[in-house]
Amino acid sequence: MDHNKNSYPAVFSCLIIILYSVHLINAMPDASYYDKSDGPLSYNFYDKTCPSLGMIVRWGVWTALKNDTRMAASLLRLHFHDCFVDGCEGSVLLDDTKDFKGEKNALPNRNSARGYDVIDSIKTEVEKSCPSIVSCVDILALAAREAVVMSGGPFWPVSLGRLDGLTASEKSANEQLPSPFEPLDNITAKFVAKGLDVKDMVVLSGAHTIGFAQCFTFKRRLFNFKGSGKPDPSLDTSFLSNLQTTCPNVDKSNTKLAALDSQTINKFDNTYYKNIINNTGLLESDQALTGDPKTASMVKDYSSDSFLFAKDFAASMVKLGKIGVITGQSAGQVRKKCNSVN
Ligand code: HEM
Ligand SMILES: *[C@@H]1O[C@H](CO)[C@@H](O)[C@H](O)[C@H]1NC(C)=O
Ligand SMILES: *[C@@H]1O[C@H](CO)[C@@H](O)[C@H](O)[C@H]1NC(C)=O
Ligand SMILES: *[C@@H]1O[C@H](CO)[C@@H](O)[C@H](O)[C@H]1NC(C)=O
Repeated sequence: MDHNKNSYPAVFSCLIIILYSVHLINAMPDASYYDKSDGPLSYNFYDKTCPSLGMIVRWGVWTALKNDTRMAASLLRLHFHDCFVDGCEGSVLLDDTKDFKGEKNALPNRNSARGYDVIDSIKTEVEKSCPSIVSCVDILALAAREAVVMSGGPFWPVSLGRLDGLTASEKSANEQLPSPFEPLDNITAKFVAKGLDVKDMVVLSGAHTIGFAQCFTFKRRLFNFKGSGKPDPSLDTSFLSNLQTTCPNVDKSNTKLAALDSQTINKFDNTYYKNIINNTGLLESDQALTGDPKTASMVKDYSSDSFLFAKDFAASMVKLGKIGVITGQSAGQVRKKCNSVN
């Protein structure tokens, strides 16, 4: 019996070794095995110039998450807010200067975006090993991926070689980032304007499977929905009363937090979609995905197939990470510090 039990893994190990060898033999003579380029970017961009990059980023994200689990969500959102505003070029990381008002104080980011300090400290470590080699935007793209993987979500390959931009714009951030109060059609249009589509929008919204939102981002659903004097009728009643306890009408500060996915708060899974199907989506913009037949059918698919969600989320993150990248030396630089241009 014992022998039989053990012989299966042995057979599989042999098979894996054989298949792997065949793969290596096939790949070896191919030049693209060494030059893993991906358009203007490349998967092995820093392999020679900063071989410890991957390890430093992983360590930095891991220690940040160990102290504050929510930081995974915050890093993912920061990468989204970087890429969605004038492209992935690290603009979200820049402080205001006398020449421009940056994105940190734009409405969607002010008192809301987090993780700048984590990126800054990873950058400091990277500079010690490989000074002036690795851009801040690439560090953020890698950190977002590590954060999702460490939260139980999918891995996606991050091609590298983006340069940091030279400016940032508060106006662009206010105009280009989606608001939880605008209709689905408007949010869709913002994704399309970035070369993303409806499917990308639905699957990337699944990022709201982790992290938190402040009361003011959903409070009008709780007491006075669209001037009706009543709560949003689409909200599950027990979920509604929990939220009314978290965000009482009398609390005017509205900065308390509610989990975007109240069922599995810190776990990157497909529960977000299950929630919106049973009317426990937190933001209006989350719940709106069930209100349109096209997006509703995707929500249904992702709610019932966690592998499909993981696969499609990874693919859309790759697309997100390539929006408006800068690779020409004249238009960008490798910042020495992430919060200011050189
Ligand atoms: C579809 C349109 C979207 C809207 C309207 C939206 C809106 C919001 C809002 C209002 C919050 C709460 C912010 C706060 O209260 O401080 C939030 C949090 C978050 N968003 Fe989105 N978002 C959208 C898409 C995305 C996408 C595409 C991603 C990433 C791929 C993302 C990732 C996150 C994460 C992870 C959080 C939690 C952050 C934390 O806890 O620090 N969101 N979003
Ligand atoms: C740990 O996380 C808390 C927030 O939960 C934050 O205020 C604090 O600065 C973090 N500490 C370190 C060392 O990052
Ligand atoms: C949605 O987009 C339309 C057309 O661009 C615009 O007129 C309208 O003000 C937007 N609605 C909201 C709530 O942002
Ligand atoms: C909503 O869905 C979640 C996840 O499947 C489930 O655990 C929860 O009990 C549901 N809530 C309601 C009110 O149906």
